[in-house]
Amino acid sequence: GRVVVLAGGLSHEREVSLRSGRRVSEALRDVGVEVEERDADAGLIPSLQSDPPAAVFPLLHGVAGEDGALREVLDLLEVPYAGSTPAACRSAFDKPVAKTVVSAAGVRTPESVVLPHETFRELGAQTVLDRIVDRLGLPLVVKPTRGGSALGCSVVRDVSELPAAMVSCFAYGDVSLLERHVSGTEVSVTVVDVGDGPQALPAVEIVPDSGVYDYAARYNAGATEFIAPARLGDDSAAACAQMALAAHNALGLRDLSRSDLIVDADGLSWFLEVNVAPGMTETSLVPLAFESAGLDLGVVCRELLDAAVR
Ligand code: DAL
Ligand code: MG
Repeated sequence: GRVVVLAGGLSHEREVSLRSGRRVSEALRDVGVEVEERDADAGLIPSLQSDPPAAVFPLLHGVAGEDGALREVLDLLEVPYAGSTPAACRSAFDKPVAKTVVSAAGVRTPESVVLPHETFRELGAQTVLDRIVDRLGLPLVVKPTRGGSALGCSVVRDVSELPAAMVSCFAYGDVSLLERHVSGTEVSVTVVDVGDGPQALPAVEIVPDSGVYDYAARYNAGATEFIAPARLGDDSAAACAQMALAAHNALGLRDLSRSDLIVDADGLSWFLEVNVAPGMTETSLVPLAFESAGLDLGVVCRELLDAAVR
């Protein structure tokens, strides 16, 4: 039957989500699936009730999409969907929670501090920042705890850059995560389960022209070079695959996830975060990983939808 690809929403990643939705819809149509593209607006619930689709492919990025809120609604409406449960999304989407959960499963993740905007204000900005820099050292990365596409995210190499980094972080969320910066090779590992259990696809290496994989480097064609499979030694490649699988399993994720990792100069891999509705745009990593693994985007998405209905 007809499936709904849910994209758009009201998060800061709305435009990215619309691009992901368009790409997946086209890929599904190419393999013969009847697709309706739908935004998450006030008309969504009545339309899902009056004309229920066979299943939904949720491609909302960011808050309400990846935090599981919208999937709670789908559960209430008894509409099947591809991907992880609301509870798993909630843990995975919150970066400090995800880091805590995966580190309990033995996954290496850089040391970090969580700093809510309120605490930052109440304790005196400078005192707090000095204490954090003492603990984590420099450079460090500042990012909102809940969000994606590197929005509000900065690498801080000098203490003088920290106040501005905090301002741009808090523009995107109320809680910041300050994390020790690990320099090395940035890679992304897609985990997909098309019926035989979760499998890690070859890592995709990310080489932004500007040196920083920010929003512009993510979504302007040609601004970043992607190398698939990543140029890693066999041991590092295996460790990255293992790490992405361990994160996927520890967080109880289902169907599809993409873990973002750094491999340092010693070949050690570090977990940064995991995406439960990873980008599917023309410049996104998961479609590249599928291509490199010889998988068709439309076929995989159709299989995930079929599995959701069964
Ligand atoms: N948050 C974006 C969509 C990504 O991870 O691809
Ligand atoms: Mg992300």
